[in-house]
Amino acid sequence: MAVTTAKATVIKVKKNTRGRANRQTITPSNNRKRSPSVTVRLPGPKARMILNKDRKYVSPSYTRSYPAVIESGKGVWVTDVDGNVFLDFCAGIGVVSTGHCHPAVVRAMADQSAKLLHMSGTDFYYPNQANLAEKLAEIVPGAKNKKVFFCNSGAEAVECAMKLARYHKRRARYIAFTGAFHGRTFGALSLTASKVTQRRYFAPLLSGVTHVAYAYCYRCPLNLRYPACDVACVKYIDDVLLKKVVPPEEVAALFVEPIQGEGGYIVPPPGFMPTLRALCDKYEILLVDDEVQSGMGRTGKMFAIEHFSTKADIYCIAKGVASGMPLGACVSKAGIMDWEPGSHGSTFAGNPVSCAAALKTIELLEGGLIENAARLGAIALDRLSDLKNQYEFIGDVRGKGLMIGLELVSDGVKKEPVKDRRNAVVFEAFKNGLLLLGAGESTVRFIPPLVIGENELHTGLEIFEKALKKVFRVS
Ligand SMILES: Cc1ncc(COP(=O)(O)O)c(C=O)c1O
Repeated sequence: MAVTTAKATVIKVKKNTRGRANRQTITPSNNRKRSPSVTVRLPGPKARMILNKDRKYVSPSYTRSYPAVIESGKGVWVTDVDGNVFLDFCAGIGVVSTGHCHPAVVRAMADQSAKLLHMSGTDFYYPNQANLAEKLAEIVPGAKNKKVFFCNSGAEAVECAMKLARYHKRRARYIAFTGAFHGRTFGALSLTASKVTQRRYFAPLLSGVTHVAYAYCYRCPLNLRYPACDVACVKYIDDVLLKKVVPPEEVAALFVEPIQGEGGYIVPPPGFMPTLRALCDKYEILLVDDEVQSGMGRTGKMFAIEHFSTKADIYCIAKGVASGMPLGACVSKAGIMDWEPGSHGSTFAGNPVSCAAALKTIELLEGGLIENAARLGAIALDRLSDLKNQYEFIGDVRGKGLMIGLELVSDGVKKEPVKDRRNAVVFEAFKNGLLLLGAGESTVRFIPPLVIGENELHTGLEIFEKALKKVFRVS
């Protein structure tokens, strides 16, 4: 049963610029015992009206898992148009890192909005774009001198990295991983290999991309075991791919998620990232770290790659960087970003309001939310691992910080994915006031806002547990 008596989580307090303590704004959401409240059969009457309109006018390509029609949010809680209150363990797919409508972020945006909404950082200058670039250059791992290209989304950050790598290296090819998700624009989609639905009928994609197997140890593509395998999946790239198929001197960059997100929340073993780094060094291939989902404190460190003591040449950032405002960034060593004026740009990128939100978001992350993610992530991982020990249908529990995946399977031997049951668990949780999403074929992901308190975490996990037991018919 859940431990629900945790002390209020009061985390490190930093001074704001006027010297006053920011305690209220950087304390995790709210540690009072509170429960979701679903009072009508979902979707409720007002939600149904919106759903009808949406069905008529909005693109059917979106991947809605269940009919949650949200009107407002605060911290880890959201309220739908019919007044039902949900606990949000999706954080707008890993975006609202500081929780919904964090008052300090909203204030920073309001102040900026009253001053300047847009100028276009491609053509003009304004203070907070340079300030944010300076801050990102400081927090991204690696050499001190870095440069930042701003954009509006994760896919655009990846597009930027693809173009930059070609430009700098004067090489045309890329290597990426099966299971990878890097976005849905044509360049990024050429790297994405997470689900065929994302690629079907869009060929021809960008040429020159070769996919290799990711270190998915629970289902090792080479049928080996770590560490005895000696990271054979990376050795394969060296011994086979780069010797027989792809000339290494034609490869501009290798793209990797340090923890695979959409592919199923897959944490590679400790040796994977350092071995990839060594391979890239050997052939002077740029290592591009896609931190769009795993970055900005989500894993209990500012960037997931820090768990693996590895540094990349180029970093892609988006999602959690601005607490919900559209912003992406591609950050590289200064010497790599050597392209000429006009070679890349974007009208909206680095919008002043998004930059204000990002600067405040990073202040809050550094002020205690990363620490909170590490601490509560360990509690969640423990509790979910206990569940795994009880039930054969939980094949694997993995994660770092508050980026956790639980893979459901048919049984412990055949380990067949059970997509329908996974979807049923997610739907059952929704009916009981918990918003979850799947990842990969058969995994449930847990990515609450990093402001979550311990009681809220346990409340959500209790609902999940009940949903799981109902769907798998265990008591
Ligand atoms: C690792 C990774 N890269 C890139 C993207 C694409 O980001 P966006 O949807 O903002 O274009 C995503 C989105 O989920 C992602 O998880």
